[in-house]
This record gives sequence, C-alpha cells and structure tokens, in this order.
Amino acid sequence: MPPVSVGSAPGRVNLIGEHTDYNDGLVLPIALDLGVKIALRERADDVVHLVTDADLQPQEVSYSRRDVATKDGSWADRVRGLTEELRARGAEVTGFDAVVSATLPPGAGLGSSAAFAIAFLRALDNLLDLGLSDEVTVDIAHRVENGPYVGARAGFLDQLASVYGTQREALLIDLRDRSMERIALPKDLELAVIDSATRHDHASGGYNTRRAECDAACQHLGIASLRELESRSEIEILDRLPPPLDRRVRHVLSENARVRAAVTALRAANMGQLGELLRASHRSLRDDYEVSTAELDRLVAIADDDPDVLGARLVGGGFGGSVLALTTAGHARDAGGRIVTRYGAGDLVAVVP
Ligand code: GLA
Repeated sequence: MPPVSVGSAPGRVNLIGEHTDYNDGLVLPIALDLGVKIALRERADDVVHLVTDADLQPQEVSYSRRDVATKDGSWADRVRGLTEELRARGAEVTGFDAVVSATLPPGAGLGSSAAFAIAFLRALDNLLDLGLSDEVTVDIAHRVENGPYVGARAGFLDQLASVYGTQREALLIDLRDRSMERIALPKDLELAVIDSATRHDHASGGYNTRRAECDAACQHLGIASLRELESRSEIEILDRLPPPLDRRVRHVLSENARVRAAVTALRAANMGQLGELLRASHRSLRDDYEVSTAELDRLVAIADDDPDVLGARLVGGGFGGSVLALTTAGHARDAGGRIVTRYGAGDLVAVVP
C-alpha cells in the first residue's frame, strides 16, 4: 500500500476589516481551532477519488484525470482547479484517493474554501514532493478561487489568514504590500462565533457584484485602487460618485479606519471601544455595503441585546454565514448559548481564543 500524505489548514474569524482586502486595504483575522484535513494516497491509475465527512454534497466524487476539464458544479471543481494549476506549473499530478475531513463548517464565512485549498495543496506537496513555499501556496489557492474552476473573485484575506494566522493574536495585514504585524489579544477578550445556518454562494451571489462596483468607483475616480483615497477629503470623493457607488466606497474607507482604531483598542485593552467598532462595522456592512441579510441582522440584534456582549457583527463576505460577538473573558460560551437559543437556529461554532 502506498503511504498516506496529510495536509491541514485552519479557518479564520476576521475581527474587523471586511470587504477591504480586494481594495488594497486592512484586515485583522484570527486563526480558528477549526479547520480542514486531507489525507491522500497515490493510485496506479489516473482516477481521482474524493470522499468527505464534511457537510458537502455529494459526499463521494470520482473522475478520471483525462476528464479534469469537465466541471460538475460541486466542491470537486476546486480540486480540479488545484491540480490543473499545479500541472500548469510543471508538476506531474497522478491519480489519487483523498479523504477530506473538516471541523470547520463549510460556507459559514469562516474561510472554509481557503482552508480546503491550502490543506489540499499541503497534502499534494507531501505526496508529490513539490517543495511549495507558503507564499506560493497562498498564490495558488487564491488563483484557483478566482479561476475558471471556482470563479469567486475573492481577495487574499482567507488564504493569508489560514497560512500565517495564529489563534492567540490578531494578524494585521496591509493588502497593499501584504505586510503583516501580529497584535496580541488582550487577556480579557473572548469572542463567540455563531453560525446563522444560512448560506452564501460567493460565485453566483452578490460578492462579485460588490467587486465590480468597487472597480466602477475606481474608474469614475481615475484611480487603480480605493486605497489611494486615504489621504483625500471623503466628502469631496463621495460627491463625485453616483449611488450606490458612494455608499460602497464610504464603507471601504470607514472600515479601513475602523481596523486601525481596533488595533489601538486592542493595544490599550479597551474592550468597550472595540465593541463599539464592531457595531459600527456591522451597520456599515448592512447599510452602506448591503451584504447583510434579515437573518444576520436579527442574530446581531439578539447578540447586541445580551448583557455580556460588548458588540457584534457579521463576519466574512456576508449574504449568510456567521456573526461574532465580543465579551470579556469567561463569558463567550454562555452568551453564545443564550444567543443561539433566542435565535432558534444555528450553532455556537467556536469560542476564541
Ligand atoms: C470572503 C472573501 C475574502 C474577503 C471577505 C470579506 O471571505 O473570500 O477575500 O473579501 O469575504 O472581507
């Protein structure tokens, strides 16, 4: 029996800085204790056989490497994309059996697609001895997400958070040059991460529309990226944009400012201030960026109403998925339980750190 090669990667919760990554902005993710694990065994033929215990359909997929270009619309397309990308870079990819196991719920706004791709690349790297660096792993995972096999025009947040993130620090990433700084979490900080049990679909959902709107705003303003606006007067900029582009840009500019303020609040262990920033972030994602849903708004309102919660907001791309709620240490589990009970659905998926 050929040996088994394994790869794993964590999901992330983004403390603040949503829909800023593809605008050359700032993000602040924390790695989760939840993730994806892949075990691979080489086959003598050219068949790719995938099975999973995760909440993905179908749970078993098989195809011949010769038919790799035939997409089936399932999670197997991401595997097709990964092996094709490796082949384009000169790797000899054979047939293999893969077992995909996950503690991270898929499609919950917690970076499951990136964790899947990175775990898979790490397993393939072990199997085929490819010598992939972290940097190249991030780039391939991102290319596949954006490429013909998946088609979500996602930014780099999830891949960078999965590869470089840690569970006890927030990772401040400046997407303009991908520089990173680790910010220690105050001892008194805890987060409840709650899955609303409603799902997004980035490839066909509003995510790509938001990206197109940001591109349109840049064209209107004659700039390459919204980050170039940082030093200009906001009122003057927004006046030049038709709705809804003015609201979209206002979100991106204000969210970058909130990331900086959140770093200051973390350093000062000012939990009240951090909670206020999370609440403002949710309002901006709801009203200006319009990526929230009735369910997410209700979940956030229930969380904000809890006596132990200092602030809450939707996390990830929106249109479904999860919310995070900030509490002081020792209170997130109970608060999360109360919120899920009042909401009447969903799950407390993690308590961070
Ligand atoms: C998704 C994308 C990320 C990022 C977030 C929103 O998770 O994959 O690149 O854009 O949405 O912040």
